[in-house]
Amino acid sequence: MQTAEIHRRWLDFFEKRGHTVVPSASLVSDDPSLMFTVAGMVPFVPYLSGMVPAPYPRATSVQKCIRTNDIEEVGKTPRHGTFFQMAGNFSFGDYFKEGAIKFAWELLTTSEADGGLGFDAKDLWVTVYEEDEEAIALWREHSTLPDERIQRLGKDTNYWSTGQPGPAGPCSEIFFDLGPEHGIDGGPVTDDDRYVEIWNLVFMQYQVADVVSKTDFTILGELPKKNIDTGLGLERVAFIKQGVNNMYEIDQVRPVLDRAAEIAGKTYGADHGDDVRLRIIADHVRSGLMLIADGVTPSNEGRGYILRRLLRRVVLQMRLLGVMGASFAELFPASRDAMKGAYPAVGNDFDFISRIAYAEEKTFLRTLASGIQILDSAVADAAAQKAAVAGDTAFLLHDTHGFPIELTLELAGEAGVSVDEQVFVSLMQEQRDRAKADAKAKKGQRADLSVYKELRGLGETVFTGYTELNHESRVLGIVVDGVPAREAHEGQIAEIVLAETSLWAEAGGQDSDQGLIVGDGFEAEVLDVQKAVPGLVVHTVKVTVGTVAVDARAETRVDADYRRGATQAHSATHLVHAALREVLGETAHQAGSYNKAGYMRLDFSHTDALSTETKSEIEEVSNLAIRANYEVVTREMPIDEAKAMGAMALFGEKYGDTVRVVDIGGPWSRELCAGTHVASSSEIGLISLVSESSVGSTNRRIESLVGMDAFRNFAAERAIVQQLTSGLKVPRAELISKVQDLGAQLRATEKKVAALEAEKLATRVPELLAQTEVLGGNRTVLADLGTVGSADDLRGLALQLRDRVSGEAGVIVLAGAISGGDGPAKPVVIAATTPLARENGVKAGDLAKLGSKVLGGGGGGKPDLAQGGGTDANKIGEALAEIRRSLTA
Ligand code: ALA
Repeated sequence: MQTAEIHRRWLDFFEKRGHTVVPSASLVSDDPSLMFTVAGMVPFVPYLSGMVPAPYPRATSVQKCIRTNDIEEVGKTPRHGTFFQMAGNFSFGDYFKEGAIKFAWELLTTSEADGGLGFDAKDLWVTVYEEDEEAIALWREHSTLPDERIQRLGKDTNYWSTGQPGPAGPCSEIFFDLGPEHGIDGGPVTDDDRYVEIWNLVFMQYQVADVVSKTDFTILGELPKKNIDTGLGLERVAFIKQGVNNMYEIDQVRPVLDRAAEIAGKTYGADHGDDVRLRIIADHVRSGLMLIADGVTPSNEGRGYILRRLLRRVVLQMRLLGVMGASFAELFPASRDAMKGAYPAVGNDFDFISRIAYAEEKTFLRTLASGIQILDSAVADAAAQKAAVAGDTAFLLHDTHGFPIELTLELAGEAGVSVDEQVFVSLMQEQRDRAKADAKAKKGQRADLSVYKELRGLGETVFTGYTELNHESRVLGIVVDGVPAREAHEGQIAEIVLAETSLWAEAGGQDSDQGLIVGDGFEAEVLDVQKAVPGLVVHTVKVTVGTVAVDARAETRVDADYRRGATQAHSATHLVHAALREVLGETAHQAGSYNKAGYMRLDFSHTDALSTETKSEIEEVSNLAIRANYEVVTREMPIDEAKAMGAMALFGEKYGDTVRVVDIGGPWSRELCAGTHVASSSEIGLISLVSESSVGSTNRRIESLVGMDAFRNFAAERAIVQQLTSGLKVPRAELISKVQDLGAQLRATEKKVAALEAEKLATRVPELLAQTEVLGGNRTVLADLGTVGSADDLRGLALQLRDRVSGEAGVIVLAGAISGGDGPAKPVVIAATTPLARENGVKAGDLAKLGSKVLGGGGGGKPDLAQGGGTDANKIGEALAEIRRSLTA
């Protein structure tokens, strides 16, 4: 049975039994305390916890999920996927344990011919929470399971929560027995891979808090309504029903595995190590594809970091299979073709998705190449000294070049060199300990969202600020220092929740409004306005007069000047976006924006820097749109209608069923946007594009000043030009060539000075030769030359001196300090030897290294000529003394 067919049968079964079919939410969870959607229930948490009334009593979904905590297991077991789909049925205060158990048994054991999943009852086992007698009785009553196949387990496996404060409860898990050839008898309590968990029924009864671990949490009390949350692993059922060995061999994943095997010239099934690699690749490529499709882009933190890690692991695994070059351009299309049936967006947006993935692969291959150089030289050194590659080199490769230890071991092993794994392991442990301590410190700082969730239960905050600046409302709640309060007094910082507000909360790139909240006997200055949880606007204020209390009348007053500026900047963002697409083409897709009074920035997908001409053109198109005095029209409509009209949605952003469409100049700029806008484009005044830069390997950023700020910037630049023209005494048109001439003159003068300095240095040859002394049988010059122009000059002098003693055993060691401009002077040391000196065993490289060590730096080189240096020029004397000692030793 194809995965899509299981998906279809699932939704069909529950729809026929009164469940509303809810489409999968994004992998990027709405809940700020969760990085990703990790279970089918995540989008339903507000209903399960009773925070928001559920719009339906029963629901069903097949939800996209990402979990990476078991990433090391991927490919090694049959069932661990970083991306997977969880089929779920949910009841919000409607049916409970009995309904859930009956539905599960019916769907699993109804024959395929009758629309069920066609499992044989003799292959099924269940576990229940050890104290849940009710569940045990219900399984006995509604299934044909013999008593010994209903097993009791403790909290660590049979109690479910998301790991965050919220709804939780005991659960009952259903397992499939793969058969005696897969392991020992005894059922799921043996914890053997032979029994695969396919479906978890969670009986949500409690609200929990202080979740420390799976077994350590506080039960706050019963939920207002008892709920059902279940999750069936679509991939697990698919691999059982498709008669394959594991989830990487199912129809939605296997094509990538096959493609990877083909590229690497491997046969799947021939070698266990290679098989694991192929399975990791197949899993991670699919996860990468799905994450990028939901708007995640690679970065060094948060979600972006997880994506980066997945993609890099694919590159490394391909490498371990012997593929050195790029392979994403083969692997991603294979995954797209396997997934687009279930998720059409991965087909439609593939251009964008693949550009991001391929760019990440390219960057990482470059990083790897530089790491390999480090490893090669470490391996060569180790081989020469008959030693192992140092553990800290392996750690450096891991930490900054992304080399997993197995890659380092493998490459070193090819050269017959071992690696000091013990030191590596202890360095890794130190790093983990540091990270743990950091995470703990951060967790302590994270605000407890439950206070906002409670306030959100009072209803959604209504925004009235599209049509008015001031609005009279009522205080619904006050939070001081993270805890609910009845009042906030003069001088205090507090968070205030109102029934309605005319103040804009930061969203859609538009920064929050500035203004005041005033009421009977109090006044508060607004410092920030944010949506603490979806639908709840929280005003952070400083109370400047009197006391504000819950239930008090309160008027929000938006600072009209700020709002005018913010509105101009937001509309300007739309114009620049439209201009970008006009000039660069449709692929310049917005990837994020930020605007506030006087300023806007916009990130867009584009790999190359823009030329000066292109930037001017974008700026001109934007300003022509201002001059055209376009009418700005905002309308509300169903999302499908808006998309059919070509309204641009932000990639990966979630929108409700009804959306607001903002047109500037009709379809020229048509975007889904909730922000505040000018009435006609000429109100924006002026846009001045001040910067264009890169953000990551796939996006560029444009920044502009808007309105009066743009004007003031032009005026300031004009003043600079005026000062330059009068200072340099040339007309404006000649300013550039004048500055270029001055630059050329300066460079020519610098060259002359350098030549003079080198000449001056050369005059010291006789004097230095006169100073030679015999150290350890070598005629030696050992001198500190004070301040010198450059290391090249010093080297030139050293070579001249060596020439003069070329027929003897001669050693030249010169040191000097190069002036560092504003910073401290930098010491250099040059060592040179003649062939006879080398026969005496003196190596220039050793001398330079020795000197550098004293100077606080690194250096070395060949036996005949070497350079070293460091950071502390005051230590030159000491360094030379050390070298002298080594020559006489
Ligand atoms: N929420 C439950 C799980 O993820 C069904 O296992």
